[in-house]
Amino acid sequence: MKSSRRLLLAAGAGFLPLRAGWAASLATTPSQTEGPFYPTSLPADMDNDLVQVRGQAAQAMGTVLHLQGRVLDLSGRPIDGAIVEIWQSDAQGIYDHPRQPGRERRDQAFQGYGRLVAKSDGAYSFRTLKPVAYPGRTPHIHLKVASSDGRRLTSQFYIAGHPSNESDGIFRGAARDPRQRALIEMRLAPAPGLEPGALATTMDIVVA
Ligand SMILES: [Fe+2]
Repeated sequence: MKSSRRLLLAAGAGFLPLRAGWAASLATTPSQTEGPFYPTSLPADMDNDLVQVRGQAAQAMGTVLHLQGRVLDLSGRPIDGAIVEIWQSDAQGIYDHPRQPGRERRDQAFQGYGRLVAKSDGAYSFRTLKPVAYPGRTPHIHLKVASSDGRRLTSQFYIAGHPSNESDGIFRGAARDPRQRALIEMRLAPAPGLEPGALATTMDIVVA
């Protein structure tokens, strides 16, 4: 049934005249579950560098990932001043959350959560960790976006090509549309210019 509907849509697209502007519109970053681990209380340090907690000498365990991009509307216009939040587990797969088994073993040097306000060109950037798998989930970074004009998005980013992605139901659900899939798959590249041993990825967030 799913495939016949897809065929029908494909056939329809061939016969219908395109509305002006239709081709220019972007796909939206797919909405995904918030999950059980959104912080119950925000950390004292909640800046955009999750690898370093203010007042601590130690850096978080794990591979540093520079995650950057722009927050855009469906026309590709930047959403100025959007609040972007991310949260994820530490390099051992442990969240800083009361429902997290083994929370006492978490890496105290990992901030776990960060937030920022996107710049006037929609740009955002976080210094965080390459996400790791934990029981039941493929590696992912959670995110939430809230714009001043009331747009809201909750989603998750994944590592493109990770072998566990296709067995993760949340990933599969969000990745059915190839254009939306591209908006949640992080292509990780070495970024020695930014920081030795670090990775970087650019992920625009498209909010309807
Ligand atoms: Fe999660």
